[in-house]
Amino acid sequence: MKAKPFLKWAGGKGQLIPAVEAALPGDLAGKESLVYVEPFAGSGAVLFWFLQKFPNVQHAIINDINTDLANAYRVVKEHPQLLIETLQVIQDKYYGLKSEEDRRNFFLEKREIFNSRALSVLDKTALLLFLNRTCFNGLYRVNSQNRFNVPFGKYSRPKICDPETILADSNILQKVTILNGDYRKTLEHASGRAFFYIDPPYRPISKTASFNAYAQKVFGDDEQIALKEFCDGLSAKGCRWLLSNSDPKNENPKDNFFDDLYKDESVYIKRVKAKRTINADAAKRGEIRELLISNYKS
Ligand SMILES: C[S@@+](CC[C@H](N)C(=O)[O-])C[C@H]1O[C@@H](n2cnc3c(N)ncnc32)[C@H](O)[C@@H]1O
Repeated sequence: MKAKPFLKWAGGKGQLIPAVEAALPGDLAGKESLVYVEPFAGSGAVLFWFLQKFPNVQHAIINDINTDLANAYRVVKEHPQLLIETLQVIQDKYYGLKSEEDRRNFFLEKREIFNSRALSVLDKTALLLFLNRTCFNGLYRVNSQNRFNVPFGKYSRPKICDPETILADSNILQKVTILNGDYRKTLEHASGRAFFYIDPPYRPISKTASFNAYAQKVFGDDEQIALKEFCDGLSAKGCRWLLSNSDPKNENPKDNFFDDLYKDESVYIKRVKAKRTINADAAKRGEIRELLISNYKS
């Protein structure tokens, strides 16, 4: 069974994988003791793909600032059987409910319990997966008080317990160290053996936005500039990196923010086609371009 994201997450890069693959350095498959680092892991679409594509990865390090997410990775890695058993019980109860009204009440009750956060890490992760599968559009979104606030999704038989994926993910996560904090924590893993895939939150389109889809402070111009300094630090340590971001030229063809920021001679910018997957407004789900920026030529 294929390892793949166990959660649906805003900014998931599943559909960008062919473009990422084409933008990788050509010699990764032949590298002995390759180290893979993802400082903004999200749901790990690229992570799971990469680890299966390159079994020569000896060790991987992932990080995300979101504690619910980092805990979920740890539970999947260390206690897959307990997680499957807990989810199976929740799924049996959910499938046994007769009406949409009953399912909605069950969902709201579980959401309230999750938001109390007064649970074991195992139970919190089970509820996170349950809410992700049963909420509207399958999203993770919390408000500024860290309360999950996505409404009920009206699906009658969503797959709540997916043992094959959990076991495949757990197996592959055995060589992954899971960190929970700011992305700069991963700098200490930079070396000539390491390859970094960097997928930060998008630079907001509107200048007035102050929170992003993850209800964290936006990753605005200052944060993007600081991230460039982090990338310079990686280059100085001899490691290769690939960074993705949304192209601001989608909205404003005159916006040269990233072209100016990454104008160094040894940095390359590619523009690739992508599809916006998560957008409440269907009209805005059309084709856009994504930037792939690297410190090597692919
Ligand atoms: C665009 S998403 C990554 C998507 C991911 N590549 C995927 O395929 O799902 C960005 C992630 O960065 C995390 N994040 C935001 N600020 C951060 C920071 N300062 N340090 C580390 N992670 C951060 C968010 O929690 C979010 O999961």
